[in-house]
Amino acid sequence: MNIIVTGGAGFIGSAVVRHIIANTSHNVLNIDKLTYAGNLESLSSVSENSRYHFSHNDICNKSAMEEVFNDFKPDIIMHLAAESHVDRSITGSADFIETNIIGTYTLLEVARQYYMELSDHKKIIFRFHHISTDEVYGDLEEGTSNLFIETTAYNPSSPYSASKASSDHLVRAWYRTYGLPIVITNCSNNYGPYHFPEKLIPLTILNALKGKPLPIYGNGLQVRDWLYVEDHARALFLVASEAEIGETYNIGGHNELKNVDVVKGICNLLEELAPHKPDGVVNYIDLITYVKDRPGHDLRYAIDASKIHRELGWTPNEIFETGLRKTVQWYLDNQEWVENVETGEYQNWMQKQYQDNS
Ligand code: NAD
Ligand code: TYD
Repeated sequence: MNIIVTGGAGFIGSAVVRHIIANTSHNVLNIDKLTYAGNLESLSSVSENSRYHFSHNDICNKSAMEEVFNDFKPDIIMHLAAESHVDRSITGSADFIETNIIGTYTLLEVARQYYMELSDHKKIIFRFHHISTDEVYGDLEEGTSNLFIETTAYNPSSPYSASKASSDHLVRAWYRTYGLPIVITNCSNNYGPYHFPEKLIPLTILNALKGKPLPIYGNGLQVRDWLYVEDHARALFLVASEAEIGETYNIGGHNELKNVDVVKGICNLLEELAPHKPDGVVNYIDLITYVKDRPGHDLRYAIDASKIHRELGWTPNEIFETGLRKTVQWYLDNQEWVENVETGEYQNWMQKQYQDNS
């Protein structure tokens, strides 16, 4: 098959591309605009492979997308391109509206035109797989055991999650109204190698190694359900290639943890894996700094992933303890990747974020 992966230079998209090239004989076309979050070095292990192709393009550019679809002739679209960071959506939402909503709309329209002209045989195979987030459901109460299921009502809190919720609605409307064969997945917080340093886990590892403060928003008691990125990539390919048309699957790691415990866990691992500390640091844990809370901060996310387990046989392989250890070790071993992605734009944004948050 020919598979388009949008956002394939990002954190999850690059794991999906690496997974497909390593485990199947399919061809992959990565469409990516290479924003601050996109980095082709995350694909260095596949870039020489003749089944991997790259198109440097914006998904909002309709004529470019039409050309790409007509040239590559995809059987499956796995749509991951997005603006993905909640804090950036709070300080500037325009790119989130543009890429996450207009970009998804553009791809749906291009895919619809393309699908209508396919042969009956090709139509049976074709899928538009939209990758979304559990943040569309809003949050769950702290201290309860409630979980998000596929039919939980949408109630997004941030500009990011509202833009993803909008795109999910568009995708379902294109299925119901036009018969475009779609599937949707909503997953919890991912972690693992190649995660952009602005997110909690890589930020904590990298700041600790530099002897910088480890910022915890509010009281740090918010809960996230952590999913190892390679488990997610495997689930996504399974859904794209085997799920029933029109279905939605929630994907989670069964790893509910408070933010403060995640940060302390990283500090403990670093004591063991990076014992030579920066000047002035006695214990990594002393770097923890409680800062102003995120506006609209969701308290708790937790996924019921029983549908994907029941229907497609997927279950996560990684438990948090082993996944976090691998992740910390990966950042210790890949400082060059880190230096490449920590561009001037990123440094400026982080500096401003710290000023506003302190
Ligand atoms: P990311 O920010 O690491 O990567 C996004 C990629 O999309 C980048 O390579 C970027 O260059 C590209 N991109 C952005 N705008 C584009 C545009 N207009 N045209 C083409 N490419 C563009 O994001 P991620 O963490 O890999 O997330 C991937 C998808 O998974 C997103 O749709 C996100 O909403 C969803 N998701 C992420 C998480 C998570 O924990 N990271 C959890 C649930 C869902
Ligand atoms: P993040 O990695 O930004 O993912 P998301 O907002 O999509 O869940 O944040 C994970 C959690 O960690 C979230 O509750 C916000 C919190 N957080 C901090 O406490 N400090 C930080 O510096 C960051 C980036 C996040």
